[in-house]
Amino acid sequence: MSDKKVLFTGAGGFIAAHVIPLLIEGGYTVRIFDNMTRGDRARVNEFVATGKVELVEKDVRYGGAVREAMRGCTHVIHFATVSINKSIADPHESIDINMIGNHNVFAAAADEGVERLVFASTASVYGEPKRLPMHEDDELKPLTPYCISKRAGEDLLGFYERQKGLSWNALRFFNVYGPGQKIEAYYTSVINHFIQRLRAGQPPIIDGRGDQSMDFVHVWDLARAVVAALESERANLPINIGTGIDTSIAALAKILIEAVGVDVEPLFNERDVLVSRRAADITRAREVLGWEPRITVEEGMRQLVEDSE
Ligand SMILES: NC(=O)c1ccc[n+]([C@@H]2O[C@H](COP(=O)([O-])OP(=O)(O)OC[C@H]3O[C@@H](n4cnc5c(N)ncnc54)[C@H](O)[C@@H]3O)[C@@H](O)[C@H]2O)c1
Repeated sequence: MSDKKVLFTGAGGFIAAHVIPLLIEGGYTVRIFDNMTRGDRARVNEFVATGKVELVEKDVRYGGAVREAMRGCTHVIHFATVSINKSIADPHESIDINMIGNHNVFAAAADEGVERLVFASTASVYGEPKRLPMHEDDELKPLTPYCISKRAGEDLLGFYERQKGLSWNALRFFNVYGPGQKIEAYYTSVINHFIQRLRAGQPPIIDGRGDQSMDFVHVWDLARAVVAALESERANLPINIGTGIDTSIAALAKILIEAVGVDVEPLFNERDVLVSRRAADITRAREVLGWEPRITVEEGMRQLVEDSE
């Protein structure tokens, strides 16, 4: 048995399902720590059946449980969280899980002396960007309890680095998409919404002129970045993980029309919308992680459509 063991919080979820196979391939054993409120139990059971993965079905809000699960782990990936939508609807729960939970995991990791901790941060720590592409040193203006807790999480990691020598990387994920994605995802739900309409032969409906954009990064590419961040020589940095390409909603509609293969034109719902745009500067990811996205939005969306047939 390998002596590299990852405590992986929130590992019952969407992104983790794509990271765990890479960890197993890389010789890690994995201790999933998830309360399974949103976890995919069938998928977790498949992982457990490999003999390389175990499930600790507990809550990150309980420091004692986190500390106990941390014993014997050499690495940590911290994903457990409640989403933006829920954080707006219920800030109390969000602060409990995302702030107290973060602290429980970081403090236990620092005390255990793990080799590396990787934290899932988010592009939303920037708030509305003043310029594109967005660089790690740009001003941060998180707008919701979820985003505020992600930013605070990055700062807390700095504290445990100074205090106890914790080695960490915080990955600022842009708009993650791919197989297994939850349909109600805050930003990327537009993909599923368009696909469903197109399958029914209906045109996608775009608010405003469709100028708002996202930096869509495929979950398979993202999963490689997580493992690279666990093993990189340089550490203690926030790192953008995106493609650097901003795809407008109008462009996304065209890509999906092509992928589904229907003969329709998007409809525009003329009204004023707040045009937010996103594109990551990924120079640091290239330099520090030796990471590069490989899947274009066109390929990724085509594959997503095929997969969900
Ligand atoms: N999906 C995206 O586009 C995106 C973008 C930016 C950042 N992120 C971050 O990446 C990470 C993974 O995202 P995802 O899309 O896989 O999320 P997900 O919702 O699919 O998975 C989160 C997991 O955390 C678990 N969880 C929730 N509360 C918990 C608690 N109190 N204790 C223990 N476990 C708990 C859930 O059961 C779930 O399995 C998260 O930290 C998220 O904030 C995701």
